[in-house]
Formats: sequence, structure tokens, C-alpha cells
Amino acid sequence: MFHKITLAAACFMTVILAGCNSSGTATANNPQVEDRAKLMKDWRHANEGMKAMIEDPSRFDAITFKERADFIADTNATMWVHFEGEMAQGGHAKDEIWTDPEGFQTKIEAFTSSINALALAASEAASAADVEASYGEMASQCGSCHKAYKKK
Ligand code: HEC
Repeated sequence: MFHKITLAAACFMTVILAGCNSSGTATANNPQVEDRAKLMKDWRHANEGMKAMIEDPSRFDAITFKERADFIADTNATMWVHFEGEMAQGGHAKDEIWTDPEGFQTKIEAFTSSINALALAASEAASAADVEASYGEMASQCGSCHKAYKKK
């Protein structure tokens, strides 16, 4: 009896996995796609807060700016696992992420250096001028990766 139940459960899992595979890009209910979209949106929110302070330096608040830079820097390592493996295809991710993994990795590394540099600059900043250059570099890395690897 126990074995029959185990077998039935195993078959059920196979059906689920086969169902995901046969749809190829498996966008709906794909936890990897959903998790990265959620984190990317949180990054956008953090980024917009920093951008507003760069554009209007009178609004610069060192603690808030640093919190936002740290949030992106601290979650950076958790972002990229959501793009690993063929099951991760879908959403607005271009196929080139999987056909050109070295290129994608290069973008991740350039972004990682830029967000770490920004977090460091933010920890010593007294004004927007102190983080303006490193902020600009970090933000351009978001755009550079999107241009190459994100569908419109
Ligand atoms: C190394 C590549 C890379 C970097 C760096 C990167 N992104 Fe993305 N981003 C992507 C890809 C690919 C997608 C599409 C993912 C999907 O739809 O499945 C995306 C999607 C997004 C989305 C859309 C989320 C949604 O589904 O609504 C936002 C917003 C976003 N990124 C913001 C940012 C911000 C802000 C930064 C910088 C702080 C950033 N990204 C850095 C690759 C990157």
C-alpha cells in the first residue's frame, strides 16, 4: 500500500515536471521568473529613491541613500540564481542569457563591482556629490544588462 502511494506521488510529480517542460518557456507559475521579477521591482524602487536624491541634491539623506544602496548590494547574490538552468527561461528574459552565459556573467560581474563601489561610497558620503559618479556607473550597468538581455 505504502509503495503504491509513493509511486502515485512520483507519477504525479513527473506529470507536473513534464507539463512545465513541454511548454518550453513555462512563464505562468514559474517561481524563478516570479521571484526575480519581484526582486527586480524592489531594486527599481531602491534605485528610484537614490535617483531622486542625485537629481535634487537638496533631498540627499545619507542614511536613506546608504540603506538603498546596501539593499541592492546585499540582495545581489540572491538575484542571479533565479536565472540559472533552462527552467528559468521565460518572462522578459532574452534567450541569449542561456545561449551566451559568459556574456551574461560578464554583465553580472560589472554590475556587482559597480553596486559594491556605490555601497562603499555611500558609507562615507556627506552629500549627493560624493556618490554621484558611482551612482551613475551603477545605474548605467542596470541599463547595459537590460539592453543586451531583457526583452522590451
Ligand atoms: C545582469 C543583468 C541585469 C542587471 C545588472 C539588472 N537587471 Fe533588471 N532585469 C534583467 C532581466 C534579464 C530582466 C527580465 C527578467 C524577466 O522578465 O524574467 C530584468 C527585469 C527588470 C525589471 C522588470 C521586472 C518586472 O517583471 O516587472 C526591473 C524593474 C528591473 N529589471 C530593474 C533593474 C534595476 C533597477 C537594476 C539595477 C539596480 C537592474 N534591473 C539590474 C537583467 C538585469
